[in-house]
Amino acid sequence: MTYNERMNEKLKELKNKEKVIILGIESSCDETSVSVVENGQKVLSNVVSSQIDIHSEYGGVVPEIASRNHIVNIDYVYKQALEKAQIDASEIDAVAVTYGPGLVGALLVGLNFAKGLAYGLDVPLIPVNHIAGHICANFIDFIDLKPPFVCLIVSGGHTAIVLQESYVTHKLYGSTLDDAVGESFDKVARIMGLKYPGGPQIDKLAKLGQNNITFCKAHTFENPYDVSYSGLKTAVINYIHNCEQKGQEINMADVCASFESQAFDDLIQKTIKASKESGVNKIALAGGVAANSYLRENMTKLAKKENIEVYYPRMDLCGDNAGMIASAGFYKLKYSDFEVDLKLNAQPTLPLDTKKSFLA
Ligand code: KG4
Ligand code: ZN
Repeated sequence: MTYNERMNEKLKELKNKEKVIILGIESSCDETSVSVVENGQKVLSNVVSSQIDIHSEYGGVVPEIASRNHIVNIDYVYKQALEKAQIDASEIDAVAVTYGPGLVGALLVGLNFAKGLAYGLDVPLIPVNHIAGHICANFIDFIDLKPPFVCLIVSGGHTAIVLQESYVTHKLYGSTLDDAVGESFDKVARIMGLKYPGGPQIDKLAKLGQNNITFCKAHTFENPYDVSYSGLKTAVINYIHNCEQKGQEINMADVCASFESQAFDDLIQKTIKASKESGVNKIALAGGVAANSYLRENMTKLAKKENIEVYYPRMDLCGDNAGMIASAGFYKLKYSDFEVDLKLNAQPTLPLDTKKSFLA
Protein backbone atom coordinates (compact mmCIF):
# COMPACT_ATOMS: atom_id res chain seq x y z
CA MET A 1 0.00 0.00 0.00
CA THR A 2 1.27 3.48 -0.82
CA TYR A 3 1.31 6.29 1.72
CA ASN A 4 -1.69 7.95 0.02
CA GLU A 5 -3.71 4.71 0.10
CA ARG A 6 -2.82 4.01 3.72
CA MET A 7 -3.71 7.54 4.75
CA ASN A 8 -7.08 7.50 3.03
CA GLU A 9 -7.91 4.47 5.20
CA LYS A 10 -6.61 6.27 8.27
CA LEU A 11 -8.83 9.29 7.55
CA LYS A 12 -11.89 7.06 7.92
CA GLU A 13 -10.65 5.83 11.31
CA LEU A 14 -9.95 9.37 12.50
CA LYS A 15 -13.48 10.52 11.63
CA ASN A 16 -14.76 8.37 14.50
CA LYS A 17 -11.87 8.85 16.93
CA GLU A 18 -12.88 10.53 20.18
CA LYS A 19 -9.72 12.56 20.71
CA VAL A 20 -7.97 13.87 17.60
CA ILE A 21 -4.72 15.78 17.96
CA ILE A 22 -3.81 17.85 14.91
CA LEU A 23 -0.55 19.69 14.35
CA GLY A 24 -1.15 22.79 12.22
CA ILE A 25 1.42 24.63 10.10
CA GLU A 26 1.02 28.17 8.71
CA SER A 27 3.54 30.00 6.52
CA SER A 28 1.46 31.81 3.89
CA CYS A 29 2.91 35.29 4.48
CA ASP A 30 5.24 36.64 7.16
CA GLU A 31 4.34 34.50 10.17
CA THR A 32 5.91 31.08 10.73
CA SER A 33 3.55 29.23 13.02
CA VAL A 34 3.06 25.72 14.37
CA SER A 35 0.26 24.71 16.72
CA VAL A 36 -1.13 21.63 18.41
CA VAL A 37 -4.91 21.53 18.79
CA GLU A 38 -7.16 18.83 20.27
CA ASN A 39 -10.56 18.29 18.64
CA GLY A 40 -10.45 21.60 16.77
CA GLN A 41 -10.98 23.71 19.88
CA LYS A 42 -8.52 22.97 22.66
CA VAL A 43 -5.27 24.75 21.84
CA LEU A 44 -2.36 22.91 23.46
CA SER A 45 0.19 25.26 21.88
CA ASN A 46 0.22 27.96 19.23
CA VAL A 47 3.73 29.28 18.51
CA VAL A 48 3.98 32.25 16.13
CA SER A 49 7.29 33.65 14.94
CA SER A 50 6.57 36.98 13.26
CA GLN A 51 8.84 38.60 10.69
CA ILE A 52 7.15 42.01 10.99
CA ASP A 53 10.30 43.75 12.25
CA ILE A 54 12.30 42.46 9.28
CA HIS A 55 9.73 43.52 6.65
CA SER A 56 8.76 46.85 8.22
CA GLU A 57 12.20 48.15 7.15
CA TYR A 58 10.99 47.74 3.54
CA GLY A 59 7.45 49.07 4.14
CA GLY A 60 5.85 45.71 3.30
CA VAL A 61 6.46 41.99 2.97
CA VAL A 62 9.37 41.07 0.66
CA PRO A 63 8.41 37.57 -0.61
CA GLU A 64 11.95 36.20 -1.00
CA ILE A 65 12.99 37.36 2.47
CA ALA A 66 9.80 35.85 3.90
CA SER A 67 10.56 32.42 2.37
CA ARG A 68 14.13 32.43 3.64
CA ASN A 69 13.08 33.31 7.15
CA HIS A 70 10.43 30.59 7.17
CA ILE A 71 13.21 28.11 6.34
CA VAL A 72 15.36 29.46 9.17
CA ASN A 73 12.50 29.42 11.72
CA ILE A 74 10.25 26.48 11.01
CA ASP A 75 12.17 23.67 12.69
CA TYR A 76 12.60 25.65 15.91
CA VAL A 77 8.95 26.77 15.91
CA TYR A 78 7.87 23.13 15.42
CA LYS A 79 9.99 21.95 18.36
CA GLN A 80 8.66 24.76 20.55
CA ALA A 81 5.07 23.84 19.64
CA LEU A 82 5.59 20.23 20.74
CA GLU A 83 7.38 21.29 23.91
CA LYS A 84 4.68 23.79 24.90
CA ALA A 85 1.92 21.27 24.17
CA GLN A 86 3.86 18.72 26.25
CA ILE A 87 3.29 15.99 23.73
CA ASP A 88 5.49 13.67 21.75
CA ALA A 89 5.37 13.75 17.95
CA SER A 90 4.07 10.17 18.02
CA GLU A 91 0.81 11.43 19.59
CA ILE A 92 -0.08 13.54 16.53
CA ASP A 93 -3.00 12.11 14.54
CA ALA A 94 -2.69 14.33 11.46
CA VAL A 95 -0.80 17.32 10.05
CA ALA A 96 -2.86 20.24 8.69
CA VAL A 97 -1.13 22.81 6.52
CA THR A 98 -2.02 26.01 4.68
CA TYR A 99 -1.56 25.37 0.95
CA GLY A 100 -3.05 28.67 -0.26
CA PRO A 101 -3.78 31.47 -0.79
CA GLY A 102 -0.50 33.24 -0.04
CA LEU A 103 3.02 33.86 -1.28
CA VAL A 104 4.17 30.83 -3.25
CA GLY A 105 7.69 30.61 -1.81
CA ALA A 106 6.42 31.11 1.73
CA LEU A 107 3.66 28.51 1.32
CA LEU A 108 6.12 25.97 -0.07
CA VAL A 109 8.26 26.06 3.06
CA GLY A 110 5.37 25.12 5.36
CA LEU A 111 3.93 22.67 2.87
CA ASN A 112 7.17 20.76 2.35
CA PHE A 113 7.86 20.67 6.07
CA ALA A 114 4.32 19.33 6.61
CA LYS A 115 4.73 16.68 3.92
CA GLY A 116 7.98 15.44 5.42
CA LEU A 117 6.49 15.36 8.89
CA ALA A 118 3.25 13.63 7.86
CA TYR A 119 5.17 11.04 5.86
CA GLY A 120 7.70 10.46 8.64
CA LEU A 121 4.99 10.08 11.30
CA ASP A 122 2.79 8.07 8.93
CA VAL A 123 -0.22 10.31 9.53
CA PRO A 124 -2.53 12.05 7.03
CA LEU A 125 -1.67 15.40 5.49
CA ILE A 126 -4.71 17.73 5.52
CA PRO A 127 -4.61 20.66 3.08
CA VAL A 128 -6.23 23.79 4.52
CA ASN A 129 -7.43 26.95 2.81
CA HIS A 130 -5.99 29.87 4.80
CA ILE A 131 -9.33 31.70 4.77
CA ALA A 132 -11.11 28.64 6.18
CA GLY A 133 -8.55 28.83 8.96
CA HIS A 134 -9.48 32.44 9.76
CA ILE A 135 -13.16 31.45 10.02
CA CYS A 136 -12.37 28.48 12.27
CA ALA A 137 -10.46 30.74 14.70
CA ASN A 138 -13.94 31.60 16.00
CA PHE A 139 -14.62 27.96 16.98
CA ILE A 140 -11.53 27.97 19.21
CA ASP A 141 -12.77 30.83 21.34
CA PHE A 142 -16.47 30.13 21.28
CA ILE A 143 -17.11 26.54 22.23
CA ASP A 144 -20.85 26.96 21.63
CA LEU A 145 -20.62 28.67 18.24
CA LYS A 146 -22.03 26.40 15.56
CA PRO A 147 -22.96 27.05 11.93
CA PRO A 148 -24.99 28.56 10.40
CA PHE A 149 -23.72 32.11 10.89
CA VAL A 150 -22.87 35.04 8.69
CA CYS A 151 -19.14 35.60 8.45
CA LEU A 152 -17.41 38.82 7.53
CA ILE A 153 -13.96 37.94 6.22
CA VAL A 154 -11.55 40.87 6.41
CA SER A 155 -7.84 40.35 5.86
CA GLY A 156 -4.88 41.69 3.92
CA GLY A 157 -5.97 39.74 0.85
CA HIS A 158 -9.72 39.18 1.25
CA THR A 159 -12.94 41.00 1.96
CA ALA A 160 -16.14 38.98 1.73
CA ILE A 161 -19.50 38.42 3.37
CA VAL A 162 -20.51 34.75 3.42
CA LEU A 163 -23.15 32.59 5.00
CA GLN A 164 -21.29 29.74 6.70
CA GLU A 165 -23.96 27.07 6.21
CA SER A 166 -22.11 24.19 7.86
CA TYR A 167 -18.58 23.60 9.13
CA VAL A 168 -17.48 23.02 5.54
CA THR A 169 -19.89 24.83 3.20
CA HIS A 170 -20.70 28.42 2.62
CA LYS A 171 -22.57 30.74 0.33
CA LEU A 172 -21.09 33.99 -0.91
CA TYR A 173 -23.15 37.14 -0.40
CA GLY A 174 -20.67 39.68 -1.65
CA SER A 175 -17.02 40.61 -1.82
CA THR A 176 -14.70 43.42 -2.74
CA LEU A 177 -14.56 44.26 -6.42
CA ASP A 178 -10.97 45.48 -6.14
CA ASP A 179 -8.66 45.91 -3.11
CA ALA A 180 -9.07 44.01 0.15
CA VAL A 181 -9.83 46.20 3.16
CA GLY A 182 -6.53 45.32 4.92
CA GLU A 183 -4.60 46.11 1.77
CA SER A 184 -6.19 49.59 1.63
CA PHE A 185 -5.30 50.18 5.30
CA ASP A 186 -1.69 49.24 4.61
CA LYS A 187 -1.45 51.45 1.52
CA VAL A 188 -3.03 54.49 3.18
CA ALA A 189 -0.76 54.03 6.22
CA ARG A 190 2.30 53.87 3.99
CA ILE A 191 1.43 57.23 2.36
CA MET A 192 0.96 58.64 5.85
CA GLY A 193 4.44 57.46 6.80
CA LEU A 194 3.16 54.96 9.37
CA LYS A 195 5.01 51.74 10.09
CA TYR A 196 4.08 48.43 8.38
CA PRO A 197 1.60 46.85 8.94
CA GLY A 198 -0.53 49.96 8.77
CA GLY A 199 -3.83 48.56 10.03
CA PRO A 200 -3.00 48.56 13.76
CA GLN A 201 -1.36 52.03 13.46
CA ILE A 202 -4.47 53.54 11.85
CA ASP A 203 -6.63 51.84 14.49
CA LYS A 204 -4.59 53.51 17.26
CA LEU A 205 -4.41 56.97 15.68
CA ALA A 206 -8.11 57.01 14.72
CA LYS A 207 -9.04 56.93 18.40
CA LEU A 208 -7.55 60.43 18.74
CA GLY A 209 -9.41 61.90 15.75
CA GLN A 210 -12.86 62.61 14.38
CA ASN A 211 -14.75 61.46 11.33
CA ASN A 212 -14.96 64.94 9.78
CA ILE A 213 -13.53 64.46 6.26
CA THR A 214 -15.67 62.98 3.48
CA PHE A 215 -13.33 61.25 1.04
CA CYS A 216 -15.81 59.97 -1.51
CA LYS A 217 -19.53 59.47 -1.98
CA ALA A 218 -21.22 56.14 -1.26
CA HIS A 219 -21.31 53.78 -4.22
CA THR A 220 -24.18 51.63 -5.43
CA PHE A 221 -23.35 48.17 -6.71
CA GLU A 222 -25.17 45.71 -8.89
CA ASN A 223 -24.87 43.19 -6.07
CA PRO A 224 -25.90 45.11 -2.91
CA TYR A 225 -23.47 43.03 -0.82
CA ASP A 226 -20.38 43.95 -2.83
CA VAL A 227 -17.91 46.58 -1.65
CA SER A 228 -14.97 48.48 -3.14
CA TYR A 229 -11.85 49.97 -1.57
CA SER A 230 -9.78 51.25 -4.45
CA GLY A 231 -11.75 54.54 -4.78
CA LEU A 232 -11.62 55.26 -1.04
CA LYS A 233 -7.92 54.47 -0.86
CA THR A 234 -7.13 56.76 -3.84
CA ALA A 235 -9.32 59.54 -2.40
CA VAL A 236 -7.41 59.46 0.91
CA ILE A 237 -4.06 59.45 -0.86
CA ASN A 238 -5.16 62.37 -3.10
CA TYR A 239 -6.41 64.28 -0.05
CA ILE A 240 -3.00 63.93 1.63
CA HIS A 241 -1.09 64.91 -1.54
CA ASN A 242 -3.36 67.95 -2.12
CA CYS A 243 -2.87 69.18 1.43
CA GLU A 244 0.88 68.73 1.11
CA GLN A 245 0.98 70.64 -2.20
CA LYS A 246 -1.01 73.52 -0.71
CA GLY A 247 1.17 73.51 2.38
CA GLN A 248 -1.88 72.80 4.57
CA GLU A 249 -1.42 71.10 7.89
CA ILE A 250 -2.94 67.60 7.95
CA ASN A 251 -4.65 66.26 11.03
CA MET A 252 -3.56 62.63 10.66
CA ALA A 253 -5.82 61.44 13.47
CA ASP A 254 -8.85 62.90 11.68
CA VAL A 255 -7.72 61.31 8.40
CA CYS A 256 -7.50 57.94 10.18
CA ALA A 257 -10.86 58.29 11.94
CA SER A 258 -12.61 59.38 8.72
CA PHE A 259 -10.97 56.65 6.62
CA GLU A 260 -11.75 54.00 9.20
CA SER A 261 -15.43 54.81 9.48
CA GLN A 262 -15.82 55.13 5.70
CA ALA A 263 -14.05 51.81 5.26
CA PHE A 264 -16.25 49.96 7.77
CA ASP A 265 -19.70 51.58 8.05
CA ASP A 266 -20.95 50.26 4.73
CA LEU A 267 -19.42 46.84 5.35
CA ILE A 268 -21.09 46.61 8.77
CA GLN A 269 -24.50 47.53 7.31
CA LYS A 270 -24.14 44.98 4.53
CA THR A 271 -23.15 42.22 6.93
CA ILE A 272 -26.16 42.98 9.14
CA LYS A 273 -28.39 43.00 6.05
CA ALA A 274 -27.06 39.55 5.10
CA SER A 275 -27.81 38.30 8.60
CA LYS A 276 -31.37 39.65 8.48
CA GLU A 277 -32.00 38.31 5.01
CA SER A 278 -30.73 34.85 5.85
CA GLY A 279 -32.62 34.80 9.14
CA VAL A 280 -29.42 33.75 10.90
CA ASN A 281 -28.88 36.02 13.88
CA LYS A 282 -25.19 35.33 14.42
CA ILE A 283 -22.28 37.20 12.84
CA ALA A 284 -18.62 36.18 13.15
CA LEU A 285 -15.64 38.28 12.11
CA ALA A 286 -12.58 36.60 10.61
CA GLY A 287 -9.12 37.67 9.41
CA GLY A 288 -6.40 40.07 10.50
CA VAL A 289 -8.64 43.15 10.20
CA ALA A 290 -11.10 41.56 12.67
CA ALA A 291 -8.64 42.90 15.28
CA ASN A 292 -9.79 46.46 14.47
CA SER A 293 -11.42 48.06 17.49
CA TYR A 294 -13.81 50.31 15.52
CA LEU A 295 -15.08 47.32 13.55
CA ARG A 296 -15.48 45.13 16.64
CA GLU A 297 -17.28 47.82 18.66
CA ASN A 298 -19.55 49.15 15.95
CA MET A 299 -20.48 45.78 14.55
CA THR A 300 -21.44 44.66 18.06
CA LYS A 301 -23.37 47.87 18.83
CA LEU A 302 -25.36 47.98 15.59
CA ALA A 303 -26.03 44.25 15.44
CA LYS A 304 -27.32 44.28 19.02
CA LYS A 305 -30.13 46.65 17.96
CA GLU A 306 -31.27 43.92 15.57
CA ASN A 307 -30.87 41.13 18.15
CA ILE A 308 -27.88 39.72 16.31
CA GLU A 309 -25.01 38.27 18.30
CA VAL A 310 -21.47 39.12 17.19
CA TYR A 311 -18.39 36.91 17.64
CA TYR A 312 -14.76 37.72 16.96
CA PRO A 313 -11.60 35.83 17.85
CA ARG A 314 -9.29 37.13 20.57
CA MET A 315 -6.44 39.29 19.24
CA ASP A 316 -3.79 36.57 18.92
CA LEU A 317 -6.17 34.40 16.88
CA CYS A 318 -7.14 37.22 14.46
CA GLY A 319 -3.74 37.43 12.77
CA ASP A 320 -2.10 34.54 10.97
CA ASN A 321 -1.48 31.59 13.29
CA ALA A 322 -1.37 27.81 12.98
CA GLY A 323 -4.00 27.23 15.68
CA MET A 324 -6.73 28.24 13.26
CA ILE A 325 -5.22 25.96 10.59
CA ALA A 326 -5.20 22.95 12.93
CA SER A 327 -8.81 23.76 13.85
CA ALA A 328 -9.88 23.99 10.18
CA GLY A 329 -8.03 20.74 9.55
CA PHE A 330 -10.12 19.06 12.26
CA TYR A 331 -13.45 20.20 10.77
CA LYS A 332 -12.32 19.22 7.29
CA LEU A 333 -11.37 15.79 8.59
CA LYS A 334 -14.70 15.35 10.40
CA TYR A 335 -17.16 16.83 7.93
CA SER A 336 -15.80 16.60 4.41
CA ASP A 337 -14.48 13.97 2.05
CA PHE A 338 -11.09 14.52 0.51
CA GLU A 339 -8.15 12.41 -0.60
CA VAL A 340 -4.70 12.61 0.95
CA ASP A 341 -2.18 13.40 -1.76
CA LEU A 342 1.52 13.79 -1.09
CA LYS A 343 1.84 15.52 -4.49
CA LEU A 344 -0.17 18.47 -3.14
CA ASN A 345 1.16 21.76 -4.46
CA ALA A 346 0.98 25.30 -3.10
CA GLN A 347 -1.85 27.36 -4.63
CA PRO A 348 -1.03 31.06 -4.23
CA THR A 349 -4.39 32.21 -5.63
CA LEU A 350 -6.56 29.50 -4.07
CA PRO A 351 -10.06 31.03 -4.23
CA LEU A 352 -12.97 31.03 -1.83
CA ASP A 353 -14.89 28.10 -3.23
CA THR A 354 -18.53 29.13 -3.08
CA LYS A 355 -19.89 26.17 -4.99
CA LYS A 356 -18.35 23.42 -2.94
CA SER A 357 -16.71 24.31 0.29
CA PHE A 358 -14.40 26.76 1.87
CA LEU A 359 -12.46 23.89 3.23
CA ALA A 360 -11.83 22.36 -0.19
O1 KG4 B 1 -5.21 37.90 8.12
P1 KG4 B 1 -3.94 38.64 8.09
O2 KG4 B 1 -3.04 38.55 9.27
O3 KG4 B 1 -3.15 38.25 6.82
C1 KG4 B 1 -3.79 37.90 5.64
O4 KG4 B 1 -4.29 36.76 5.56
O5 KG4 B 1 -3.89 38.79 4.77
O6 KG4 B 1 -4.33 40.17 7.86
C2 KG4 B 1 -3.36 41.14 7.79
C3 KG4 B 1 -4.04 42.49 7.62
C4 KG4 B 1 -3.06 43.60 7.32
O7 KG4 B 1 -3.53 44.32 6.21
C5 KG4 B 1 -3.10 44.43 8.61
O8 KG4 B 1 -2.84 45.80 8.39
C6 KG4 B 1 -4.53 44.22 9.04
O9 KG4 B 1 -4.75 42.85 8.81
N1 KG4 B 1 -4.76 44.54 10.45
C7 KG4 B 1 -5.58 45.55 10.85
C8 KG4 B 1 -5.51 45.57 12.27
N2 KG4 B 1 -4.65 44.57 12.68
C9 KG4 B 1 -4.21 43.95 11.54
N3 KG4 B 1 -6.34 46.40 10.15
C10 KG4 B 1 -7.05 47.31 10.84
N4 KG4 B 1 -7.02 47.42 12.19
C11 KG4 B 1 -6.28 46.56 12.94
N5 KG4 B 1 -6.26 46.67 14.27
ZN1 ZN C 1 -4.47 35.66 7.10
